[in-house]
Amino acid sequence: MTSRLLGLAGAFLLTSTCLTVAQDNAPAAAGTTIVPQGAAAPAAPAAGTAAPAADSAAPAGQAGAPVAAEAPAVDGAAAPADAAASGEVAMAEGPGAKIDASPSADTKKEGNKATEGDEGKFVDPAGNPVYNLSADGTADWYAWRGFKKYGANCLQCHGPDGLGSSFAPNLTEELQNIDYFTFAGIVVNGQQNKWNPSGNSVMPAWGEDPNVMCSLDAIYIYLRGRADGVLGRGEPKRPPKNEAGQKAEYDCLGF
Ligand code: HEC
Repeated sequence: MTSRLLGLAGAFLLTSTCLTVAQDNAPAAAGTTIVPQGAAAPAAPAAGTAAPAADSAAPAGQAGAPVAAEAPAVDGAAAPADAAASGEVAMAEGPGAKIDASPSADTKKEGNKATEGDEGKFVDPAGNPVYNLSADGTADWYAWRGFKKYGANCLQCHGPDGLGSSFAPNLTEELQNIDYFTFAGIVVNGQQNKWNPSGNSVMPAWGEDPNVMCSLDAIYIYLRGRADGVLGRGEPKRPPKNEAGQKAEYDCLGF
């Protein structure tokens, strides 16, 4: 009996030890999606193509975006600084990849080299959503879809092509300063009076609106392309339908 109890106690100890270890590891593991990537990317720019693929699932999963937006906004602010310090980022090559002198914050930090992730959505070396233009200038599905979704939900305030209006800021410029997680956080939660402190400037919260949430990455991808100078004004050259991408959006919308 005693030995059984001892055994049980031992098992409990073991369990709690494992739990402790697991808990110790948990934050580190969660952090890997953000922090070590920033550290890894500059160290091995050549190998960067392979490594990010494993991480791409997490940040690219569009359903996760609203949740992810809460915590990583803080972590994300610290991590990219390391990458920025190192200078080396992976840039896409080819005719469709000419970057503006003042690109988006994500492109500045990690580059815009696109790796295909789930449902034909491309991610940069840090795992953030990014456009991918073919040699003939055809946009990827999400960049094109994002243009449409931007037009339906954001254009009335932020103006055609993301260029801003008297109501709301120019997002092609704002994206030079905010990264994907910050962007997602603002779109989910809204924001007030930062752009125009003396006025009544209100960015609505879209966290409850599936029309925006189900296409959050697409909208970001479109705007990132605009901010980087890769996508011009007007509708991007339309790609063939990405069935998986369209299905994911419709599933999210409950169609
Ligand atoms: C009703 C008007 C309106 C609509 C519609 C709207 N916004 Fe905004 N948005 C604003 C205003 C106003 C601000 C500035 C808020 C502030 O001053 O803090 C803003 C700010 C932002 C910012 C933060 C810019 C920064 O760096 O501070 C982002 C990002 C943004 N909007 C994205 C979007 C996206 C994406 C959509 C479409 C899903 C959208 N907005 C739709 C009015 C709007």
